[in-house]
Order: sequence, then C-alpha cells, then structure tokens
Amino acid sequence: MALTPKETVAYLDEYIIGQKDAKKAIAVALRNRHRRMQLDEAMQEEIMPKNIIMIGTTGVGKTEIARRLAKMMNLPFVKVEASKYTEVGFVGRDVESMVRDLVLASINLVKAEQQEKNKMLIDEYIEKKIIEKLLPPLPNGASEQKQADYEKSYARMREKLRNGEVDHLVIEIEIAQGFGELGGDMPPEMIKVQESFIKILGNKAESVKKEVSVEDARKALRGEASEKLLDMEAVKSEALKRAENSGIIFIDEIDKIAVSAKSQSRQDPSKEGVQRDLLPIVEGSDVSTKWGVVKTNHILFIAAGAFAMAKPSDLIPELQGRFPLRVELSSLDEETLYLIMTQPKNSLLKQYEALLSTEGVTLVFEDDAIRAIAKISQLANDKTEDIGARRLHTVIERVLEEISFCADEHEGETIMIDKALVHEKLDEVVGDEDLSRYIL
Ligand SMILES: Nc1ncnc2c1ncn2[C@@H]1O[C@H](COP(=O)(O)OP(=O)(O)OP(=O)(O)O)[C@@H](O)[C@H]1O
Ligand SMILES: [Mg+2]
Repeated sequence: MALTPKETVAYLDEYIIGQKDAKKAIAVALRNRHRRMQLDEAMQEEIMPKNIIMIGTTGVGKTEIARRLAKMMNLPFVKVEASKYTEVGFVGRDVESMVRDLVLASINLVKAEQQEKNKMLIDEYIEKKIIEKLLPPLPNGASEQKQADYEKSYARMREKLRNGEVDHLVIEIEIAQGFGELGGDMPPEMIKVQESFIKILGNKAESVKKEVSVEDARKALRGEASEKLLDMEAVKSEALKRAENSGIIFIDEIDKIAVSAKSQSRQDPSKEGVQRDLLPIVEGSDVSTKWGVVKTNHILFIAAGAFAMAKPSDLIPELQGRFPLRVELSSLDEETLYLIMTQPKNSLLKQYEALLSTEGVTLVFEDDAIRAIAKISQLANDKTEDIGARRLHTVIERVLEEISFCADEHEGETIMIDKALVHEKLDEVVGDEDLSRYIL
C-alpha cells in the first residue's frame, strides 16, 4: 500500500466534501512515512513524523476523515478519545493503553493477511476436522478395502460440506479455552499477572467440548487453525514492526484535555495530567506490551478537536510543540451542505433511499427539495448552534418522519420529495427560534 498524496486525497474526496487542507496534510504525512522507509537505517532514525492537529467546529468532517483513512489503509490504526482518560473513575488510567491498542490492531491486521495468504491450508484443516466428526472413524488396521471406502465417503462428504448441504448438522468439537486476546487494554502490571498465569497453567488451560452446528464449527475452528498453521511468533514481530513504523494513533477531542485560560476558576488537574502523560508517548518512548516493547518514536499522531472553548495554545507548550502541523477545517456553507447530501458514495440521501427500498418504497429527492434542505440546515446552523453536517440528519429526519412511519402502506410506490413537502414540514419550525432549538 503506497498511495501518492494525490491518490489519497482523491480517495478521501469520494466521501468528504471540501476540507482540502486537512486532506492534503494527512496525505503528505502518510507519504513521508513511506518515503522514510526507503532510506537507509541511519537516516530513518533521524526522520520523525510530523504530527498533525486538525481544528474545526463540530460536524465538519474531522472524525470522518480519520474513519475513512482507517478503512482505506492497511495500516495499524486506532482512534481514541482524549477525554476518556480524564473520566471520573479513570483518573490515572494509563494513557499508554493507546499504544497497546495499536499493537493489537496491528496484530489483527497481520494475522488477517496471513490467514488470507494461507486460506487454502486453513480451510483444508477446518474441513478435515469437521469431516472427521461427520464420518464414523476408520478403525485402526482397517483393510485396504475399508480404507478405500473411507476415502470415497470422505470425498463425498467433502463435496456436501462445500455445497453447504450439511451446515445444519450438529457436531461436537473441542474448543481450546486459551486466555485468548485479552489484555489489549490492560495496564502492564495486569498483563504481567496474566502472563504468569499462562506460564503456570499453560495457554490451553483446558479445552471444552461443545455441540455446535457445522456452520458455527467453521468459525470456531478458524482460530485454532490459525494458531496451528500460522507462525504466530512471526506474526507478532511483524506486527510490532508495523505498529512502530507505520502505526497511526488518532486522538480525537484533544481540546477536551486543554485547560482554557478563561476558566481558571476550575482548573482540572486531571486534564493537564493526561497531557503530561501524552508527552513521552508522542515524543517517543518505549511502551511495554504483552507482545513486546514498542518504540513510539515513529508512530504518527493525528489529533483533532473543535477548540470552541479552548485554543490549541491552551495545551501545555511541550505538547503543542509535538504537533507542528495545524490544519483548519472550514465550517460548511449552504453549497457544501448540498454537495454533502448528493456527492459522497454513501451520501445521506442514498442511505435513506436504501433504507426505504427495503420496504418496497422508492424515494426520489427532487433537486429543488435538496436545495431547500441545504438552505434550511444552513439557517438553523446560523440561528442556533453550528453543528455542521450533523444538522442534515435532524432536518432530513423531520422531512421523512411521516413517510418513514407509514412506509408499509406505500409498498410498491414511488414517493417524490419535493420542495413543497420540505417547506410544509419545516417552515413552522424554522420560523420559531425556540422551536428549532428543540427540534432541529
Ligand atoms: N465535509 C464533509 N463531507 C461529507 N460529510 C461530512 C463532512 N463533514 C461532516 N460530514 C458528515 O457529518 C457527520 C459528522 O462528521 P464528523 O464525525 O466528522 O464530525 P467532527 O468534525 O468529528 O465533529 P466533532 O468535533 O463533533 O467530533 C458525519 O456523518 C459525516 O459523514
Ligand atoms: Mg469527531
């Protein structure tokens, strides 16, 4: 996976309207990491990622950009909310857990790749296990004739299995009850405890017998097959390497841990504490995980926040310094809102059309109507709070309320959403500021 910045932006353009600067900055940061990997090791060590802060009011696409990136890229990626580390009861909760989450994501990624590569082997293993349960066993020292018969029925059963003819049959399988993949989110002390348990008891403390359908057995045996057939040590070390060199940690709501100079009356020590805990991780340090030590020096951090109350300058200076790139996302105007409804592959209107199509109702939005929705959303954003594209949800929901409710009466019909309907549903609400505060 090595998209050029242009390709990355083009991909993001399919889902997110505008916000060119943010898209470009992120695309370049990603490409730089790819460039770095081509260099010799001495040079690689020198080049640090340029961490990014995305600044923009609520609902303008910050999280959406991150979400899309994560989907597209085959890179280890985690998204955390900065505020969760300050939650009551979580004070002192270690911020390093985000790195462990990243490694876990990386392991799952590499494992999935390996499973895909070894698909044939794994499928064969699973098939064999299931067929052996379905056929009466071949006794030891069976005659050649018996063996030949067995092979024939084996082949026949495999055929049936592949055609899904025996999916409903129930078989008894043994499922190893390992400690599994716990621990992604546990503090290191707990992981140590867990590991020593594993040492004493063995990872496969016991296996339980379970009656399941053939269909479920396929899924249940997949984990076992991977454990047996994949080189898990290699998966682990590859995963660690990838987390270190191409991992991305997206820290959302970073403004929630900034301490605004204005609100000095109620300084929140836990917020600043979280910022201090973040420093070494962003700067580069060793974090121990149950899979090994991870160096965080080359992990890319992308932070995002609305910064409505606090400013980036309200973050402690050291942390500001570790996020040298700032990109601002613009608030959405009427035209952009219109495009958001119509352009993206998965646009809101397409979602509603798809939802209602399951009831046999064909929704058609007239262009006039879409323009009117954009205009009203814009108006509501101006008059009350600017909640960006999220406003579209509330407005469209209001327009379609009735239709959604009675869809079953309209099976087979085509329903036109026209300008008149939009105004009928919304004019009264928009005209009354108090009402729009509650409804839109
Ligand atoms: N520029 C845009 N193009 C397409 N869709 C957008 C855009 N901006 C926002 N949206 C849509 O609006 C919704 C909210 O966007 P998103 O979650 O990215 O907000 P945000 O900027 O992270 O806000 P917050 O600060 O509240 O977290 C999403 O469903 C997203 O698809
Ligand atoms: Mg967000």
